[in-house]
Amino acid sequence: MAILESWILNLESKFCLILPSKSPIMPGFELFGEEERKEVNEVLETGILMRYGFDAARKGRWKSKELEAAICSRFGSKYAQLTSSGTSALTTALSALGMGAGDEVIMPSFTFVASFEAVLSVGAVPVLVDIDDSLTLDPAAVRNAIGPRTKCVMPVHMCGSMADLDALQAICKEKNLVLLEDACQSIGASFKGKSLGTIGDAGAFSFDFVKTITCAEGGAVTTNDKSVYEKCDGFTDHGHDHLGADRGADLHPFIGYNYRISELHAAVGLAQIRKLDQFLAIQKKNHALLKSILEKIPEISFRRIPDPAGDSCTFLSWMLPTESIARAVVQELKSQNSLPGNFYWFDNNWHYIRKWDHLKTAATLNPLNEAQRSALLALGKQEFATSDAIMSRCISTAISLLWTEEQIRERGRIISESVKKALSSQKVTL
Ligand SMILES: Cc1ncc(COP(=O)(O)O)c(C=O)c1O
Repeated sequence: MAILESWILNLESKFCLILPSKSPIMPGFELFGEEERKEVNEVLETGILMRYGFDAARKGRWKSKELEAAICSRFGSKYAQLTSSGTSALTTALSALGMGAGDEVIMPSFTFVASFEAVLSVGAVPVLVDIDDSLTLDPAAVRNAIGPRTKCVMPVHMCGSMADLDALQAICKEKNLVLLEDACQSIGASFKGKSLGTIGDAGAFSFDFVKTITCAEGGAVTTNDKSVYEKCDGFTDHGHDHLGADRGADLHPFIGYNYRISELHAAVGLAQIRKLDQFLAIQKKNHALLKSILEKIPEISFRRIPDPAGDSCTFLSWMLPTESIARAVVQELKSQNSLPGNFYWFDNNWHYIRKWDHLKTAATLNPLNEAQRSALLALGKQEFATSDAIMSRCISTAISLLWTEEQIRERGRIISESVKKALSSQKVTL
């Protein structure tokens, strides 16, 4: 750990742009500095900001290609296609996997809005089902939701940890369904030794500003299937086949869009991916200390992690015995100005079905296809009692890369005190 600490000190003292006032949430931006500047400057020196073409002028600098190679090598996928965001990575993957009008994609009730946005954008139907105590897709709920139009299962590896991929893979194999992993929140996490995002037919990553590693805006699709990769490659660039040296002479075997990443963003991503393992080591250390404090309270339980060794530890997700105790803890943290960094997703507008009125009322700017429209309106009447029973008791604490040991102990103390106060006010004995 001494090496780790000296690495952080070195970064902090020499180069780092540190943003302590931001509440941490998967914080690549917290340790950001000279390495990113160097990569960006190399692009600025050539003036070639686009990832394709201009071969002579770019002086051998291909940051996007380099980042794709780094993703393949770090995560162990055969292919990686960079995109302009995690949302466009999902859209690209869904298209390359053949999802389209009326196809049903099973996804969890707890995710980020981007997961269903991507499904809708390709004409497919998001079928939302319950999560279990892993905070990810409940395999039994997936099984129950499979119908004649089901084509794809999309687990979302929320808050740094994983869905039960053994169970989901078995279902997909048995029912001949595509498995697409939304690994946007779990960069660097793994399941049984394999990186999340590389286990299904394809995976999607996000490098937006609040992810484990960031390039401001960007994403990637990973896959081991050459034909899926080739489709992603063309789809993100107006369908270009990218076969010759002359971009103007490229053919367009199919219709694509512009979901390209820029060389500037890829340059930042390249510097960040090289730091990923250091970020993960810090997260795991900080997570372990905070957990050791909270687990002293017997009424606190923790999210189930299907493979604890693979947790990227960007969050510590913990649960209270009842919703009213969880709400009392949230109030107590708020009154102590300690709520930032602790997320009560049940009331959150972006992450849980309960607040997605725009989805449940099919509030789109342009007409949806009929299968989509009727499914969304039916969603408004659907109950998610199992998910509610879990999410209403769950608080996730984001793990900062910048915490000192004293700060973690202090945070643990405040949370513990808040929990004890809430328990005693609700007449639950410790
Ligand atoms: C689970 C999940 N999927 C997809 C995305 C979309 O990523 P982006 O913001 O890069 O479009 C996010 C972003 O927060 C996410 O959390």
